[in-house]
Amino acid sequence: MKKLQELDDEIDHERRIMKYKAEEEDQKKTLEQRQADLAAVKASQRRILEQEAKLKASKEAKKASKQAKGQNTEYSLSDVDDSRAEWEHLKATDGCESKPLDELIEMIGLEEVKQEFLSIKSKVDTTTRQGTSLASERFSCSMLGNPGTGKTTVARLYAQFLTEVGVIPGNCFKEKTGAGLANIGVSGCKKLVDEILNEGGGVFFIDEAYQLTSGNNPGGGAVLDYLLAEVENQRGKVVFVLAGYHKQMESFFAHNPGLPSRFPIQMNFADYSDDELLRILELKVNNKFNGIMECDDGLRGLYCRIIARRVGRGRGKDGFGNARAVENTLSAVYKRQADRLRRERKAGRKPSDLFLTKEDLIGPEPSEALTRCAGWKKLQELIGLGAVKEAVRALVDSIQQNYSRELAEKPLIEYSLNKVFLGNPGTGKTTVAKIYGEILVALGLLSKGEGQCYISIPFRSTP
Ligand SMILES: Nc1ncnc2c1ncn2[C@@H]1O[C@H](COP(=O)(O)OP(=O)(O)O)[C@@H](O)[C@H]1O
Ligand SMILES: [Mg+2]
Repeated sequence: MKKLQELDDEIDHERRIMKYKAEEEDQKKTLEQRQADLAAVKASQRRILEQEAKLKASKEAKKASKQAKGQNTEYSLSDVDDSRAEWEHLKATDGCESKPLDELIEMIGLEEVKQEFLSIKSKVDTTTRQGTSLASERFSCSMLGNPGTGKTTVARLYAQFLTEVGVIPGNCFKEKTGAGLANIGVSGCKKLVDEILNEGGGVFFIDEAYQLTSGNNPGGGAVLDYLLAEVENQRGKVVFVLAGYHKQMESFFAHNPGLPSRFPIQMNFADYSDDELLRILELKVNNKFNGIMECDDGLRGLYCRIIARRVGRGRGKDGFGNARAVENTLSAVYKRQADRLRRERKAGRKPSDLFLTKEDLIGPEPSEALTRCAGWKKLQELIGLGAVKEAVRALVDSIQQNYSRELAEKPLIEYSLNKVFLGNPGTGKTTVAKIYGEILVALGLLSKGEGQCYISIPFRSTP
């Protein structure tokens, strides 16, 4: 009997141990679950706080930029645009992701284009949520703007973007000018479309599309008719993008009634403001040197602002190169730096390779540049010609004056570079005109390529 009691006790004991164990296990699981819950709550709280902070920062930056705009209308260095805030919000709340959109948002300015991308993105997302098909939607578009406003760059991103959101199955990118297409004719054009189809689809980018119907491109009309049919036939596989300057493209669209309905999306690329040119400059330098190149007064400092304003002075003129003009100016900056580094190293100094001086950035002071200019010396050596020397001197003075005004960030005084050289044959007009050209080149007012134009400086001989 006693034995039975003992056994029962033992069973009881073992059961209790097992129960404790199970309870312990349960507790452990609950604990883990609670810990996981806590982490999740914390994470989502963090996301909300981050999002709020971002929105607040963006609001404050906008407010600051508005205030800054009040004080200084030219430079308002806010990096936070509406589209950026919107995209960040979409990423945080809807879990949206898109590498090409990220890249586009990183580009300077182009607010209208970014908004267009965002609206295409929401159109696609809505269609997907509604469970309807994208196949019948039209995504072919026109990109209107001056050279260097980023049309080609954005069109490439558009191809990646459309592939990512599932509008087209491949992101093949073919680029051709209107004149080029007119040249290769319908058969050549068909070959290009086939190449895109063979790669699973993509974007056909037609630069200067108006050339298809302008003047001396006889094959263009037939190519355009072929393309208009293909835009419809290849829907869902090939998206066509027409690019070009506003004016020409508007008349191109007006003269071809089939175009607007087939290219319902229009993206306008505005010329960059001085502020945007400055930020493009900063971005280009940082990208090239991974952010370690420094410069006198910083990449948003006085000398870089002067560069941006110089570039911006071409705005409104034909062939204004926008971001490309910034890139060309930067090549000149790097060349001046390399020349200076060579001179300094030759003199036994150890200059930093990762610093741009004031002179690298904006070029030498005009009076300084003249002392290095052979033309200037030649002019001084010529006998007589007092009036000519006086005229050149006056020009140099106004350039020097403007240089000082640039450093003081004041508006420049306009002057004309054209000079009329009057005098009898043999009084040295051609010689002086050539020297004048050399001086203009030295002062950075004419590039060497343009040097030819000094020959055509208005020239009359007195009777
Ligand atoms: N908003 C921008 N931000 C940064 N770089 C830009 C921007 N727009 C243009 N660029 C740069 O300028 C250069 C010219 O751009 P591109 O797309 O070829 O212009 P377009 O086709 O309008 O002539 C490219 O190197 C591009 O990266
Ligand atoms: Mg281009």
